[in-house]
Amino acid sequence: MKIILLGPPGAGKGTQARYLCGHYNIPHISTGDLLRMAITNKTELGLQAKKIMDAGDLVSDKIILGIIKERLQADDCQNGFLFDGFPRTIVQAESIKEQNIGIDAVLQIDVDDEEIVKRLSGRRVCPSTGRIYNVIFDPPKQEGIDDETGEALIQRVDDKEATVRQRLAVYRKQTEPLIEFYSNLAGASATGKPAFYKVNGSLPVDEVKDIVIKSLGE
Ligand code: AP5
Repeated sequence: MKIILLGPPGAGKGTQARYLCGHYNIPHISTGDLLRMAITNKTELGLQAKKIMDAGDLVSDKIILGIIKERLQADDCQNGFLFDGFPRTIVQAESIKEQNIGIDAVLQIDVDDEEIVKRLSGRRVCPSTGRIYNVIFDPPKQEGIDDETGEALIQRVDDKEATVRQRLAVYRKQTEPLIEFYSNLAGASATGKPAFYKVNGSLPVDEVKDIVIKSLGE
């Protein structure tokens, strides 16, 4: 199964990705996580990406396509994968199409802007495993501490309200056109086209998960 999760920042892509990847036994490929790993490891790529990400803008298509090309060469991608946060521009989507990567399904997770601002101000993340919490909707058992590793949870630099609003503006301008791109593709008569599903991401996490799995098939 090859899946793309599409949706604004904070729609719940990372949250759903964890369930779906477990369910279908496929790797979770999050370009945001790969970039944050490069920042932690202080690589040249990380140094270039940090300023852009902290400002809520998009890293260049060239860099992102390079990261994806390298990641897809790994053995664990042979039976499929889930893209979270990629593609994010028409150039990135065209590249997937040109490479005949054979995406099975594109899932758009839809949530309104004010709900997103609320969610992202409450998001906390485990720095080593990436497990996602929310101080209001999905708190850890002990405040500020990861349930499994016992590490202190962190807040992402780009989750400040002003940066979240900039990320939303970038999403509307550069990523939202992909909804039309993929719905048109799904409606086209070409073979190998991905199916397209829109899910209401404002529902509780478990309900979103059940709808998604029902749409994709067991
Ligand atoms: P990235 O890390 O991809 O961030 P994003 O797309 O902005 O998405 P988020 O991770 O913020 O949100 P999410 O949808 O995964 O939500 P989550 O599940 O955590 O990208 C970061 C940056 O990297 C970009 O700004 C850009 O600079 C760069 N970048 C990355 N990819 C790129 C690309 N392809 N091209 C160019 N640049 C790129 O949930 C959010 C919160 O809500 C959590 O607290 C969670 O617990 C809670 N929650 C989730 N679901 C629900 C629910 N149903 N009900 C209530 N609460 C919920």
